[in-house]
This record gives sequence, structure tokens and C-alpha cells, in this order.
Amino acid sequence: MIDLPNLRPQVEDIARTAGHFLRTQQASFSQERVSLKSLNALVSDVDKNAEELLVSALRNLLPEAGFLTEEGTVSQNTNTNYYWVIDPLDGTTNFVHGLPIFSVSIALMYQDEPVLGVVYEVGMDECFSAIKAGGTTLNGSPAHTSATAELKDSLLATGFPYYDFSGVAGFQKTLEYFYPRTRGIRRIGTAAVDLAYTACGRFEGYFEYGLSPWDVAAGILLVREAGGQVCDYQGGNAPIDSKSVIATNKGVFGDVLKVIQHNIGNG
Ligand code: IPD
Repeated sequence: MIDLPNLRPQVEDIARTAGHFLRTQQASFSQERVSLKSLNALVSDVDKNAEELLVSALRNLLPEAGFLTEEGTVSQNTNTNYYWVIDPLDGTTNFVHGLPIFSVSIALMYQDEPVLGVVYEVGMDECFSAIKAGGTTLNGSPAHTSATAELKDSLLATGFPYYDFSGVAGFQKTLEYFYPRTRGIRRIGTAAVDLAYTACGRFEGYFEYGLSPWDVAAGILLVREAGGQVCDYQGGNAPIDSKSVIATNKGVFGDVLKVIQHNIGNG
């Protein structure tokens, strides 16, 4: 088994380096650099260049590991004991519209389970990281999910459907249930940061469907290692390719799961 405590600060440094690249690029960014991968899936040279930077640094760190990456700038290989799952720019829509919340997300998988996760949120210069059985940190200090036990004291986060509209009706019903029963719902535009903010107790919980492995691989570990609970909409263990996620603190997990399963999950 790889020495995860030793690897962790090195991966944090790599995420920060990519984040600084994103920050400087946003300052001079123009819309002509944007193209569409599919409906509302934006991409630019910045995503690709950041990914290349990450792949090359991570390959030096662990030559035997494969890669699963959002932009596919490297050959994809998950048939290895270890592989990296990378989103070089989570929150691309925020980035291209000049909003300050976006992140770099890196997970190291061992036998298809995340064992190291780093999410670097660029705008606030916050680096979240976790290793399996080693806890979650925010800029080096321990981070924990909140102790809130009731929905009425909870702030939740989600992602609005933007390309897969098959679950919109159930999603709307879920929101309608939560509006009067929580402190509110946020859509900040980066799933990795939604998970990181849940891990450090800013959000009590986060749920979304239509996700990709690179959106959630690192964040799922952050939440679990911070004391939270994570499953998919079917109540399963949330493998990174399950496309949906419910991640909360321990106190509101049962309530959030019940509402989502009633309205969307098994519907
Ligand atoms: C997206 C963001 C967004 C979420 C989408 C993701 P991207 O990732 O995480 O918050 O709603 O599901 O695809 O495309 O910016 O890397």
C-alpha cells in the first residue's frame, strides 16, 4: 500500500499549482475560448491545459497509476490497482462567466475506492484534503461535518439539472419540500466544493443527480472522513460512477435520504 500521509501534501501542492494557473487565466479570459462538448457542457483551452499540468505532475509522483479525467487529454485507464480521477476545473460555467467559485478536484483510487482526495477551491484559496482512515483537513486543520441534527437548522446545497432533465419533476418536489423546512438551498456551481463545504460543516448536506466520477470522487472521501454519510439516490454505497449523490452530516442523513427517495430515487 502506498504511503498516503506522505503523498497527501504533494498532491495538495499540485492542486494549488493548477489552481494558481486557473486564477491567472480567468483574469484575461474571453468567451471566444469557450466551446461546447454537449448541451451546456462548456470547455476551453484552460480546462485542457490545467489537466495536462496535473497529469504530468501526478504521473511523476506515481508512475504506476492510471487516469480517468474529465477532458481526456491522456489515455484513460482504470484497469490498474491505483488510478487518478481528475477534474481540472470543476465549475467551468462559473469560471467562464467570471464567478469566483471553482475548483481543482483530484482523487486517488485504490481498487475503485477513493483513498486520497484533494479539492482546492481557488477563489478562497482553500485546500481540502482527506486520506482513507486519516481524516479531512482544510488548509491543514482538521475539518468535520456539522453537529446539526434538524432540517430546520440546516443549509443544503444542490445542483440544478442542466442537461439531463429526466428527473426534473421529482427534483422540483424535493426542493418544494425543503424550502419551508430548512434555512435554504444553495446552488454554487461546483459539486466538488459542495462536498467540501459539507465536509467542513458549512452545508449540512448536498444532493445532485447527473454527475460524473470526476465531480465527486475526491469530495465523497472528504465527507466520509469528516464524519458524514454518503450514498447514491438508490441508497447504495455511491460508487463514483453512480451519477447521483447524497452527502450529509450524520444528523440529517435519514431525513434527506427519505425525502429524495420518496420524490426521485425510487420514483
Ligand atoms: C459541474 C459542476 C456543477 C455540477 C455539474 C458538474 P464541471 O462540473 O460540478 O456544479 O452541477 O453536475 O458537471 O462541468 O464544471 O466540471
